[in-house]
Amino acid sequence: MPRAHIVGWGKYVPQRVLTNDDLSRMVDTSDEWIVTRTGIRERRIAADGETTATMAVQAARRALEVAGIGPEQVDLIIVATATPDYFFPATACLVQDALGASRAAAFDLAAGCTGFVYALGVAAAMVESGAIRTALVVGSETLSRITDWTDRNTCVLFGDGAGAVVLRAGPDDGGILATVLGADGSGKDLLVLPAGGSRHPASHQTVAERMHFIKMQGRDVFRFAVRVVPTATRQVLERAGLTLDDVALFIPHQANGRIIESAVRDLKLPPERVYNNLDRYGNTSAASIPIALCEAVEEGRLRPGDVVVCVGFGAGLTWGATVLRWTYPQPAPTPAWRRFLRRLRYVLAALRSWLRRLWWKGVVGRG
Ligand code: COA
Repeated sequence: MPRAHIVGWGKYVPQRVLTNDDLSRMVDTSDEWIVTRTGIRERRIAADGETTATMAVQAARRALEVAGIGPEQVDLIIVATATPDYFFPATACLVQDALGASRAAAFDLAAGCTGFVYALGVAAAMVESGAIRTALVVGSETLSRITDWTDRNTCVLFGDGAGAVVLRAGPDDGGILATVLGADGSGKDLLVLPAGGSRHPASHQTVAERMHFIKMQGRDVFRFAVRVVPTATRQVLERAGLTLDDVALFIPHQANGRIIESAVRDLKLPPERVYNNLDRYGNTSAASIPIALCEAVEEGRLRPGDVVVCVGFGAGLTWGATVLRWTYPQPAPTPAWRRFLRRLRYVLAALRSWLRRLWWKGVVGRG
């Protein structure tokens, strides 16, 4: 049976930085409160015109670049997100079009902040079954657009960004080793975007009542998270026939430093084996784990053979853990001429997309 190996990784975060001091000028909070209660110092905020799809495309291009494969070789694109560009079409279809991934199936996956772990599990299973060879798995979020910037309970927590990996069929001595996924919908009200769906379609009332923004019962979510992270970690390691001593790097969903500390204490993992970049990005939901994974590789914290555990939790309620054996060394830098060719390919993809849109409108080619 082939295994799904991560052969490419990429991230994109918007340029604009919003610091805790900036927030303290918007709501009644302070840098000291935010740092001690969450560990967050700053977060990135998407510029006008940046969306979940545009950030996903940037991250995906970088992941394909590292993998050294062209978009036409991708069989499947999954975008894990809670903040899609539209209800439909799927953000993954926008990514497929922008990349010129002409052979790829594309769909979005909604599992809150656990979305990336779910998407990785689904894509890996498809690779392992032989149904596909190459998948692009993206976590991308524009949470700033659903954040209530007058609510200090939530607005200090979230940020924007995207991360992507390329999964490819490879030998059975590494790659994704096991996945554990779970859900408990009885906790649906703990973390919810109440309006905009079929239950509360957009109306003057939903807007007036600020129902298009994130609502969260923070303490309950906290309690849930500190319980599921260690449990899911132990379960996934057991499923892979490994122990906590085998783990070289633990990458938890970056939601709150105190949740991470509690889980790490429970699991008795030494701090140097835990990845944390929460201070710079805040909680980027489905994007947090792929961004963290990408930065861990860039910082040289992963070597071939290392066992990595990624654990997510979030709205749903959902949770999930993946254990993988890292198989790919740091890639060599891409020569300038190849970078130029890749860029040209994306220009051609944009041209193709434009011509296709003219065709759908009947402006060209349909008589
Ligand atoms: N600045 C200053 N004070 C704040 C504040 C802020 N940004 N947000 C809340 N407070 C206040 C509260 O109003 C409360 O005041 P009160 O005691 O006068 O009522 C006090 O701080 C304590 O609030 P509490 O909710 O008990 O704080 P906490 O220690 O639980 O921390 C969270 C709050 C949100 C940081 C924490 O519960 C948390 O991280 N939960 C998990 C959230 C999460 O990770 N969600 C995403 C999951 S994917």
